[in-house]
Amino acid sequence: MKALILSGGMGTRLRPFTYSMPKQLVPVANKPILAHCLENVRAIGVEDVAVVVGDRGQEIRTVVGDGSAFGLNITYLQQDAPLGLAHAVSIAEEFLGEDDFVMYLGDNVLAEGIAESARAFRADRPSAQLLLTKVADPRAFGVAEVDAEGQVLALVEKPQQPRSDLAVIGVYFFTAAVHDAVRAIEPSARGELEITDAVQHLVERGERVVATEYAGYWKDTGSPDDLLDCNRLLLGRLGHGVHGEVDTGSTVEGPVLIEAGAVVERSRLVGPLVVGAGSVVRDSDLGPYTALGRDCVLDGAGIGNSIVLEGVSIQNVRGLSGSIIGRSAAVRGGAATGRRLIIGDHTRAEVAA
Ligand code: TTP
Repeated sequence: MKALILSGGMGTRLRPFTYSMPKQLVPVANKPILAHCLENVRAIGVEDVAVVVGDRGQEIRTVVGDGSAFGLNITYLQQDAPLGLAHAVSIAEEFLGEDDFVMYLGDNVLAEGIAESARAFRADRPSAQLLLTKVADPRAFGVAEVDAEGQVLALVEKPQQPRSDLAVIGVYFFTAAVHDAVRAIEPSARGELEITDAVQHLVERGERVVATEYAGYWKDTGSPDDLLDCNRLLLGRLGHGVHGEVDTGSTVEGPVLIEAGAVVERSRLVGPLVVGAGSVVRDSDLGPYTALGRDCVLDGAGIGNSIVLEGVSIQNVRGLSGSIIGRSAAVRGGAATGRRLIIGDHTRAEVAA
């Protein structure tokens, strides 16, 4: 089996971060989302992987390289524009050949891995196997109608009147039968070649399409709140370990991971949290549920339930929570009267009234 990982797209919902980095590289619990996904693919015994990239492909190539750090052989496929998930399959046709493959959206996190689904697919080899999860509002998702045996009867993208509450999540298993279906479909009203249309085409052709409910934690990390939710869950699994220095004037409660070279002085840390390599935390309150990237400086800061990317400095600002702070940003409190913001396009700031 091969894997096709989709890491192109626009990432409009994650602006301003996606002006300067592909969303698949945004870290949760101090690890890029894409790395979580590559690890899950390797864990099912796949080695040959194509990663579809868009405008920001170069940064993904730099971080992930040839895949050897993950035990994978990675081929990059350039998608000139985000023309849809099925379009991504079409540009991978030569790479995939006649092989079965797992298609994995590079911004989806499936925290319990995909081993069980891969086992079921390999045993049964339906033309397509989908993973589903119950959602509160199915109108925002691809929705599957499934019979008692798990056979998919119909699949509809963002239906106004959903026939079930089972949303399709971002991991699909296919045999080579999907390529004919991709060739047969037309772009949707939003101008994309939809994978739901290709799967629906398989259903209509009488091919076997099955679906199982994913039992674990799943998140499409498309928006800031999704990222924070995922960060909370994965931080809770990091465990405790102090590889940097914590002075005697500091207190530590709960599971806290201090990476090598980090220094904590006169501060209160409440886990779960991670302090990235080389960061300095001084006279601050940190956590819970906070991922501090590498080489940050916190001085007189208070922050919880947040993702702080590398190289950030926060000085004399307390009470921060639910925040995502981009690389090398500086947050300062103190002297200024009133509230002063110097923030980029499409940034969201929520300031106490
Ligand atoms: P989406 O989240 O559906 O699309 P997007 O990245 O454009 O995000 P937004 O809606 O915020 O603008 O994409 C799901 C995943 O698939 C994501 O990892 C990007 C990837 N993708 C491609 O690689 N090629 C494509 O043509 C599309 C539409 C998405």
